[in-house]
Amino acid sequence: MAGIYIHIPFCRKFCNYCDFYHIIPDSDNQIFINALLKEAEIRQDYLGKETVSTIYFGGGTPSVFSIKELDIILDHLKKLFKVDEDNEITVELNPDDVTSDYMKGLKDLNINRISMGIQSWTDKDLKMLNRRHNSMQAENAIKEAFKAGFENVTIDLIYGIPGMSLSDWEYNLNTSFAFDIKHFSAYHLTIEPGTVFGKMKEKGLIEEIEEEESAAQFNMLIEKSESAGFIQYEISNFGKQGFFSSHNTNYWKQVSYLGLGPSAHSFNGYSRQWNVRDLKKYISYIKKGKSFFEREELDIKTRFNEYIMTSLRTMWGIDLEFVERTFEKEGYDYVINLAGKFRNYGLMKLDKKNLVLTNQGKMISDNIISEFMMPSENKLSL
Ligand SMILES: C[S@@+](CC[C@H](N)C(=O)[O-])C[C@H]1O[C@@H](n2cnc3c(N)ncnc32)[C@H](O)[C@@H]1O
Ligand code: SF4
Repeated sequence: MAGIYIHIPFCRKFCNYCDFYHIIPDSDNQIFINALLKEAEIRQDYLGKETVSTIYFGGGTPSVFSIKELDIILDHLKKLFKVDEDNEITVELNPDDVTSDYMKGLKDLNINRISMGIQSWTDKDLKMLNRRHNSMQAENAIKEAFKAGFENVTIDLIYGIPGMSLSDWEYNLNTSFAFDIKHFSAYHLTIEPGTVFGKMKEKGLIEEIEEEESAAQFNMLIEKSESAGFIQYEISNFGKQGFFSSHNTNYWKQVSYLGLGPSAHSFNGYSRQWNVRDLKKYISYIKKGKSFFEREELDIKTRFNEYIMTSLRTMWGIDLEFVERTFEKEGYDYVINLAGKFRNYGLMKLDKKNLVLTNQGKMISDNIISEFMMPSENKLSL
Protein backbone atom coordinates (compact mmCIF):
# COMPACT_ATOMS: atom_id res chain seq x y z
CA MET A 1 0.00 0.00 0.00
CA ALA A 2 1.21 3.52 -0.77
CA GLY A 3 0.02 7.13 -0.67
CA ILE A 4 -0.03 10.14 -2.98
CA TYR A 5 0.18 13.74 -1.75
CA ILE A 6 -0.64 16.66 -4.08
CA HIS A 7 0.51 20.14 -3.06
CA ILE A 8 -1.72 22.96 -4.33
CA PRO A 9 0.41 26.00 -3.41
CA PHE A 10 -2.20 28.76 -3.73
CA CYS A 11 -3.52 30.91 -0.87
CA ARG A 12 -5.72 33.96 -1.36
CA LYS A 13 -4.38 35.47 1.86
CA PHE A 14 -1.30 34.56 3.86
CA CYS A 15 -1.64 33.50 7.49
CA ASN A 16 0.82 35.11 9.87
CA TYR A 17 2.25 31.82 11.15
CA CYS A 18 2.50 29.72 8.02
CA ASP A 19 5.73 28.44 6.53
CA PHE A 20 4.25 25.97 4.05
CA TYR A 21 5.00 26.85 0.42
CA HIS A 22 2.21 29.17 -0.74
CA ILE A 23 1.73 31.94 -3.28
CA ILE A 24 -1.15 34.10 -4.52
CA PRO A 25 -3.27 32.11 -7.06
CA ASP A 26 -2.25 32.32 -10.68
CA SER A 27 -4.81 33.45 -13.18
CA ASP A 28 -4.22 30.27 -15.15
CA ASN A 29 -4.55 27.11 -13.08
CA GLN A 30 -4.38 24.99 -16.21
CA ILE A 31 -0.64 25.57 -16.70
CA PHE A 32 0.04 24.27 -13.20
CA ILE A 33 -2.39 21.38 -13.61
CA ASN A 34 -0.66 20.35 -16.85
CA ALA A 35 2.68 20.29 -15.02
CA LEU A 36 1.16 18.21 -12.18
CA LEU A 37 -0.30 15.70 -14.63
CA LYS A 38 3.04 15.49 -16.42
CA GLU A 39 4.89 14.96 -13.13
CA ALA A 40 2.53 12.11 -12.25
CA GLU A 41 3.33 10.49 -15.62
CA ILE A 42 7.08 10.98 -15.26
CA ARG A 43 7.01 9.46 -11.78
CA GLN A 44 4.53 6.70 -12.48
CA ASP A 45 7.08 4.04 -11.46
CA TYR A 46 8.12 5.69 -8.20
CA LEU A 47 5.82 3.52 -6.11
CA GLY A 48 6.69 0.36 -8.03
CA LYS A 49 3.54 -1.61 -8.55
CA GLU A 50 2.18 -0.78 -5.11
CA THR A 51 -1.54 -0.15 -4.75
CA VAL A 52 -2.39 3.40 -3.72
CA SER A 53 -4.69 3.41 -0.72
CA THR A 54 -4.63 7.13 0.18
CA ILE A 55 -4.66 10.37 -1.82
CA TYR A 56 -4.29 13.69 -0.03
CA PHE A 57 -4.87 17.14 -1.56
CA GLY A 58 -3.00 19.57 0.70
CA GLY A 59 -1.61 23.03 0.52
CA GLY A 60 -1.73 25.84 0.26
CA THR A 61 -5.41 25.73 -0.42
CA PRO A 62 -6.77 22.91 -2.58
CA SER A 63 -10.22 24.54 -2.37
CA VAL A 64 -9.08 27.36 -4.70
CA PHE A 65 -9.49 24.68 -7.39
CA SER A 66 -12.88 24.08 -8.94
CA ILE A 67 -14.53 20.66 -8.76
CA LYS A 68 -13.72 20.21 -12.44
CA GLU A 69 -10.04 20.91 -11.81
CA LEU A 70 -9.86 18.45 -8.90
CA ASP A 71 -11.69 15.91 -11.07
CA ILE A 72 -9.10 16.22 -13.85
CA ILE A 73 -6.27 15.53 -11.39
CA LEU A 74 -8.00 12.62 -9.65
CA ASP A 75 -9.06 11.05 -12.91
CA HIS A 76 -5.49 11.21 -14.21
CA LEU A 77 -4.09 9.62 -11.03
CA LYS A 78 -6.64 6.82 -11.18
CA LYS A 79 -5.57 6.09 -14.76
CA LEU A 80 -1.86 6.04 -13.91
CA PHE A 81 -1.95 4.23 -10.56
CA LYS A 82 -3.79 1.25 -9.16
CA VAL A 83 -6.01 2.97 -6.60
CA ASP A 84 -7.55 0.70 -3.98
CA GLU A 85 -11.36 0.49 -3.95
CA ASP A 86 -11.25 0.90 -0.19
CA ASN A 87 -9.39 4.20 -0.33
CA GLU A 88 -9.13 7.37 1.76
CA ILE A 89 -9.20 10.54 -0.33
CA THR A 90 -8.79 13.76 1.66
CA VAL A 91 -9.13 17.39 0.59
CA GLU A 92 -8.04 20.30 2.80
CA LEU A 93 -10.58 23.13 2.69
CA ASN A 94 -10.55 26.70 3.91
CA PRO A 95 -13.97 27.46 5.43
CA ASP A 96 -14.68 30.54 3.32
CA ASP A 97 -14.42 28.49 0.09
CA VAL A 98 -17.21 26.17 1.18
CA THR A 99 -20.62 26.32 -0.47
CA SER A 100 -23.23 23.59 -0.58
CA ASP A 101 -22.60 23.08 -4.32
CA TYR A 102 -18.87 22.74 -3.73
CA MET A 103 -19.40 20.14 -1.01
CA LYS A 104 -21.83 18.20 -3.20
CA GLY A 105 -19.27 18.36 -6.00
CA LEU A 106 -16.58 16.87 -3.74
CA LYS A 107 -18.94 14.10 -2.72
CA ASP A 108 -19.65 13.30 -6.38
CA LEU A 109 -15.90 12.95 -6.94
CA ASN A 110 -15.92 10.19 -4.29
CA ILE A 111 -13.78 12.24 -1.97
CA ASN A 112 -14.45 10.70 1.43
CA ARG A 113 -12.52 12.80 3.96
CA ILE A 114 -12.73 16.55 4.55
CA SER A 115 -10.08 18.47 6.45
CA MET A 116 -11.25 21.93 7.48
CA GLY A 117 -8.74 24.59 8.58
CA ILE A 118 -10.70 26.06 11.51
CA GLN A 119 -7.69 27.02 13.70
CA SER A 120 -9.80 28.80 16.35
CA TRP A 121 -13.46 29.51 17.09
CA THR A 122 -12.87 33.08 18.23
CA ASP A 123 -12.73 36.02 15.84
CA LYS A 124 -10.01 37.64 17.98
CA ASP A 125 -7.62 34.72 17.29
CA LEU A 126 -8.64 34.43 13.65
CA LYS A 127 -7.79 38.11 13.13
CA MET A 128 -4.50 37.71 14.96
CA LEU A 129 -3.62 34.72 12.75
CA ASN A 130 -4.71 36.70 9.64
CA ARG A 131 -7.15 34.00 8.56
CA ARG A 132 -9.57 34.70 5.73
CA HIS A 133 -12.60 33.37 7.57
CA ASN A 134 -14.52 34.25 10.74
CA SER A 135 -16.08 31.90 13.27
CA MET A 136 -19.53 32.09 11.66
CA GLN A 137 -18.12 30.97 8.30
CA ALA A 138 -16.29 28.14 10.07
CA GLU A 139 -19.52 26.92 11.64
CA ASN A 140 -21.41 27.10 8.34
CA ALA A 141 -18.62 25.25 6.53
CA ILE A 142 -18.73 22.30 8.91
CA LYS A 143 -22.51 22.16 8.71
CA GLU A 144 -22.32 22.14 4.90
CA ALA A 145 -19.86 19.22 5.02
CA PHE A 146 -22.29 17.16 7.12
CA LYS A 147 -25.25 18.26 5.00
CA ALA A 148 -23.49 16.99 1.88
CA GLY A 149 -23.21 13.60 3.59
CA PHE A 150 -19.56 13.55 4.65
CA GLU A 151 -19.05 11.40 7.72
CA ASN A 152 -15.28 11.64 8.00
CA VAL A 153 -14.70 15.30 8.85
CA THR A 154 -11.54 16.49 10.55
CA ILE A 155 -10.59 20.00 11.65
CA ASP A 156 -7.29 21.75 12.37
CA LEU A 157 -6.90 23.77 15.56
CA ILE A 158 -3.98 25.83 16.85
CA TYR A 159 -3.30 26.41 20.54
CA GLY A 160 -0.58 28.31 22.35
CA ILE A 161 -1.53 31.45 20.42
CA PRO A 162 -0.24 34.63 22.13
CA GLY A 163 -3.11 36.05 24.18
CA MET A 164 -4.98 32.72 24.30
CA SER A 165 -6.00 31.84 27.85
CA LEU A 166 -6.80 28.40 29.19
CA SER A 167 -10.49 29.22 29.14
CA ASP A 168 -10.23 30.42 25.49
CA TRP A 169 -8.71 27.05 24.63
CA GLU A 170 -11.41 25.25 26.59
CA TYR A 171 -14.01 27.16 24.57
CA ASN A 172 -12.33 26.09 21.31
CA LEU A 173 -12.29 22.44 22.34
CA ASN A 174 -15.90 22.49 23.59
CA THR A 175 -17.10 24.21 20.44
CA SER A 176 -15.27 21.69 18.25
CA PHE A 177 -16.71 18.72 20.16
CA ALA A 178 -20.24 20.07 19.80
CA PHE A 179 -20.03 19.03 16.14
CA ASP A 180 -19.98 15.38 15.15
CA ILE A 181 -16.36 15.52 14.01
CA LYS A 182 -14.57 12.19 13.95
CA HIS A 183 -11.04 13.52 14.05
CA PHE A 184 -9.07 16.68 14.75
CA SER A 185 -5.48 17.87 14.67
CA ALA A 186 -4.31 20.32 17.32
CA TYR A 187 -0.96 22.00 16.79
CA HIS A 188 0.88 24.17 19.25
CA LEU A 189 1.73 27.44 17.47
CA THR A 190 5.32 27.46 16.24
CA ILE A 191 6.71 30.87 15.42
CA GLU A 192 8.65 30.12 12.24
CA PRO A 193 11.48 32.39 11.10
CA GLY A 194 10.59 34.31 7.94
CA THR A 195 6.83 34.34 8.62
CA VAL A 196 5.01 37.51 9.74
CA PHE A 197 5.02 36.19 13.32
CA GLY A 198 8.73 35.37 12.96
CA LYS A 199 9.47 38.96 11.94
CA MET A 200 7.27 40.33 14.73
CA LYS A 201 9.14 38.17 17.22
CA GLU A 202 12.49 39.53 15.99
CA LYS A 203 11.21 43.06 16.63
CA GLY A 204 9.91 42.11 20.07
CA LEU A 205 6.28 42.68 19.01
CA ILE A 206 5.17 39.17 19.85
CA GLU A 207 6.44 36.40 22.07
CA GLU A 208 5.66 32.73 22.67
CA ILE A 209 3.30 32.03 25.52
CA GLU A 210 4.80 30.96 28.87
CA GLU A 211 5.87 27.33 29.14
CA GLU A 212 3.51 26.75 32.05
CA GLU A 213 0.57 28.02 30.03
CA SER A 214 1.57 25.80 27.08
CA ALA A 215 1.74 22.79 29.36
CA ALA A 216 -1.66 23.59 30.88
CA GLN A 217 -3.22 23.87 27.40
CA PHE A 218 -1.63 20.57 26.31
CA ASN A 219 -2.91 18.84 29.46
CA MET A 220 -6.38 20.19 28.87
CA LEU A 221 -6.21 18.94 25.28
CA ILE A 222 -5.37 15.42 26.45
CA GLU A 223 -8.03 15.34 29.17
CA LYS A 224 -10.90 16.90 27.25
CA SER A 225 -10.29 14.96 24.04
CA GLU A 226 -10.26 11.70 25.99
CA SER A 227 -13.53 12.49 27.73
CA ALA A 228 -15.04 13.38 24.35
CA GLY A 229 -14.13 9.90 23.06
CA PHE A 230 -11.05 10.73 21.00
CA ILE A 231 -7.86 8.68 20.99
CA GLN A 232 -4.60 10.59 20.81
CA TYR A 233 -2.92 8.35 18.26
CA GLU A 234 -0.19 10.90 17.56
CA ILE A 235 0.96 13.91 19.59
CA SER A 236 -1.11 16.33 17.45
CA ASN A 237 -3.75 13.96 16.08
CA PHE A 238 -6.93 12.73 17.72
CA GLY A 239 -9.48 10.37 16.21
CA LYS A 240 -12.55 8.39 17.16
CA GLN A 241 -12.08 4.63 16.79
CA GLY A 242 -12.05 3.75 13.08
CA PHE A 243 -11.33 7.33 11.99
CA PHE A 244 -7.56 7.70 12.33
CA SER A 245 -6.06 9.28 9.22
CA SER A 246 -4.71 6.41 7.10
CA HIS A 247 -2.65 8.83 5.03
CA ASN A 248 -0.80 10.31 8.00
CA THR A 249 -0.53 6.99 9.82
CA ASN A 250 1.22 5.62 6.75
CA TYR A 251 3.77 8.48 6.93
CA TRP A 252 4.51 7.51 10.51
CA LYS A 253 4.69 3.81 9.69
CA GLN A 254 7.31 4.36 6.95
CA VAL A 255 4.92 3.48 4.09
CA SER A 256 6.02 4.83 0.68
CA TYR A 257 4.39 7.95 -0.69
CA LEU A 258 4.68 10.03 -3.81
CA GLY A 259 4.49 13.82 -3.42
CA LEU A 260 3.42 15.82 -6.48
CA GLY A 261 3.64 19.60 -6.92
CA PRO A 262 6.11 22.30 -5.86
CA SER A 263 7.77 21.62 -2.47
CA ALA A 264 6.12 18.17 -2.14
CA HIS A 265 8.18 15.44 -0.47
CA SER A 266 8.34 11.77 -1.44
CA PHE A 267 9.65 8.68 0.36
CA ASN A 268 10.19 5.11 -0.81
CA GLY A 269 11.83 3.46 2.17
CA TYR A 270 15.40 4.14 1.10
CA SER A 271 15.43 7.71 -0.16
CA ARG A 272 13.61 10.96 0.35
CA GLN A 273 13.19 13.60 -2.28
CA TRP A 274 11.65 17.01 -2.34
CA ASN A 275 10.45 19.06 -5.29
CA VAL A 276 11.67 22.59 -5.96
CA ARG A 277 9.83 25.12 -3.74
CA ASP A 278 9.06 27.55 -6.55
CA LEU A 279 6.06 27.24 -8.86
CA LYS A 280 7.65 28.94 -11.89
CA LYS A 281 10.77 26.77 -11.69
CA TYR A 282 8.64 23.66 -11.09
CA ILE A 283 6.58 24.29 -14.22
CA SER A 284 9.51 25.24 -16.40
CA TYR A 285 11.76 22.35 -15.27
CA ILE A 286 9.00 19.83 -15.91
CA LYS A 287 8.31 21.32 -19.34
CA LYS A 288 11.98 21.22 -20.30
CA GLY A 289 12.59 17.76 -18.86
CA LYS A 290 15.06 19.16 -16.31
CA SER A 291 15.43 17.75 -12.80
CA PHE A 292 12.89 19.38 -10.47
CA PHE A 293 13.83 17.74 -7.18
CA GLU A 294 16.66 16.96 -4.80
CA ARG A 295 17.19 13.52 -3.35
CA GLU A 296 18.79 12.17 -0.21
CA GLU A 297 19.66 8.48 0.00
CA LEU A 298 18.94 7.43 3.57
CA ASP A 299 21.79 5.63 5.27
CA ILE A 300 20.98 3.19 8.04
CA LYS A 301 21.56 5.76 10.81
CA THR A 302 19.24 8.30 9.19
CA ARG A 303 16.59 5.61 8.80
CA PHE A 304 16.99 4.74 12.46
CA ASN A 305 16.66 8.37 13.54
CA GLU A 306 13.65 8.93 11.29
CA TYR A 307 11.96 5.83 12.64
CA ILE A 308 12.46 6.96 16.25
CA MET A 309 11.35 10.52 15.47
CA THR A 310 8.05 9.47 13.91
CA SER A 311 7.21 6.37 15.93
CA LEU A 312 7.74 7.94 19.34
CA ARG A 313 5.13 10.58 18.56
CA THR A 314 2.48 7.88 18.00
CA MET A 315 0.46 5.71 20.37
CA TRP A 316 2.19 2.63 18.91
CA GLY A 317 5.61 3.95 19.91
CA ILE A 318 8.87 2.17 19.13
CA ASP A 319 8.25 -1.40 18.02
CA LEU A 320 11.16 -3.28 19.58
CA GLU A 321 10.77 -6.30 17.31
CA PHE A 322 10.93 -4.03 14.27
CA VAL A 323 14.01 -2.32 15.69
CA GLU A 324 15.76 -5.64 16.24
CA ARG A 325 14.79 -6.90 12.78
CA THR A 326 15.80 -3.73 10.97
CA PHE A 327 18.62 -2.24 13.03
CA GLU A 328 19.87 -5.51 14.56
CA LYS A 329 21.33 -5.93 18.01
CA GLU A 330 23.21 -2.66 17.88
CA GLY A 331 20.08 -0.57 17.30
CA TYR A 332 18.07 -2.63 19.77
CA ASP A 333 20.65 -2.25 22.58
CA TYR A 334 20.92 1.48 21.93
CA VAL A 335 17.14 1.91 22.35
CA ILE A 336 16.87 -0.33 25.41
CA ASN A 337 19.72 1.45 27.20
CA LEU A 338 18.29 4.91 26.65
CA ALA A 339 14.72 3.88 27.40
CA GLY A 340 15.72 2.67 30.87
CA LYS A 341 16.33 6.22 32.07
CA PHE A 342 13.04 7.57 30.72
CA ARG A 343 11.09 4.63 32.13
CA ASN A 344 12.58 5.30 35.58
CA TYR A 345 11.36 8.90 35.36
CA GLY A 346 7.87 7.75 34.34
CA LEU A 347 8.22 9.38 30.92
CA MET A 348 8.05 6.13 28.93
CA LYS A 349 6.47 2.75 29.45
CA LEU A 350 6.67 -0.66 27.88
CA ASP A 351 3.38 -1.71 26.30
CA LYS A 352 3.86 -5.36 25.27
CA LYS A 353 6.78 -5.13 22.83
CA ASN A 354 6.44 -1.39 22.25
CA LEU A 355 8.02 1.58 24.01
CA VAL A 356 5.54 4.44 24.27
CA LEU A 357 5.52 7.88 25.87
CA THR A 358 3.39 8.40 28.97
CA ASN A 359 1.26 11.56 29.15
CA GLN A 360 4.07 13.14 31.15
CA GLY A 361 6.54 12.11 28.45
CA LYS A 362 4.35 13.59 25.71
CA MET A 363 4.76 17.00 27.36
CA ILE A 364 8.48 16.93 26.57
CA SER A 365 8.39 14.66 23.53
CA ASP A 366 10.76 16.87 21.52
CA ASN A 367 13.45 16.63 24.22
CA ILE A 368 13.08 12.87 24.58
CA ILE A 369 13.21 12.35 20.81
CA SER A 370 16.34 14.48 20.50
CA GLU A 371 18.06 12.37 23.18
CA PHE A 372 17.27 9.28 21.11
CA MET A 373 18.86 10.66 17.94
CA MET A 374 21.90 8.56 17.15
CA PRO A 375 24.91 10.86 16.91
CA SER A 376 27.10 10.72 13.81
CA GLU A 377 30.07 9.21 15.66
CA ASN A 378 27.95 6.21 16.62
CA LYS A 379 28.78 3.40 14.24
CA LEU A 380 25.49 1.72 13.44
CA SER A 381 27.18 -0.40 10.81
CA LEU A 382 24.66 -2.78 9.28
C1 LIG B 1 -0.48 23.53 5.55
S1 LIG B 1 -1.76 23.98 6.53
C2 LIG B 1 -2.96 23.77 5.25
C3 LIG B 1 -4.39 23.90 5.65
C4 LIG B 1 -5.21 24.95 4.95
N1 LIG B 1 -4.48 25.69 4.00
C5 LIG B 1 -5.70 25.93 6.01
O1 LIG B 1 -4.96 26.83 6.31
O2 LIG B 1 -6.78 25.74 6.47
C6 LIG B 1 -2.02 22.65 7.64
C7 LIG B 1 -2.22 23.02 9.08
O3 LIG B 1 -0.99 23.20 9.73
C8 LIG B 1 -1.17 24.02 10.87
N2 LIG B 1 -0.04 24.95 10.92
C9 LIG B 1 0.62 25.49 9.89
N3 LIG B 1 1.63 26.27 10.33
C10 LIG B 1 1.61 26.22 11.69
C11 LIG B 1 2.39 26.82 12.73
N4 LIG B 1 3.40 27.65 12.46
N5 LIG B 1 2.09 26.53 14.02
C12 LIG B 1 1.07 25.69 14.30
N6 LIG B 1 0.29 25.11 13.36
C13 LIG B 1 0.54 25.37 12.08
C14 LIG B 1 -2.52 24.69 10.71
O4 LIG B 1 -3.41 24.19 11.66
C15 LIG B 1 -2.94 24.31 9.32
O5 LIG B 1 -4.32 24.13 9.19
S1 SF4 C 1 -2.30 28.10 6.88
FE1 SF4 C 1 -3.25 27.40 5.02
S2 SF4 C 1 -4.31 29.22 4.20
FE2 SF4 C 1 -2.89 29.95 5.71
S3 SF4 C 1 -1.08 30.52 4.50
FE3 SF4 C 1 -0.79 28.40 5.28
S4 SF4 C 1 -1.48 27.11 3.68
FE4 SF4 C 1 -2.29 29.16 3.25
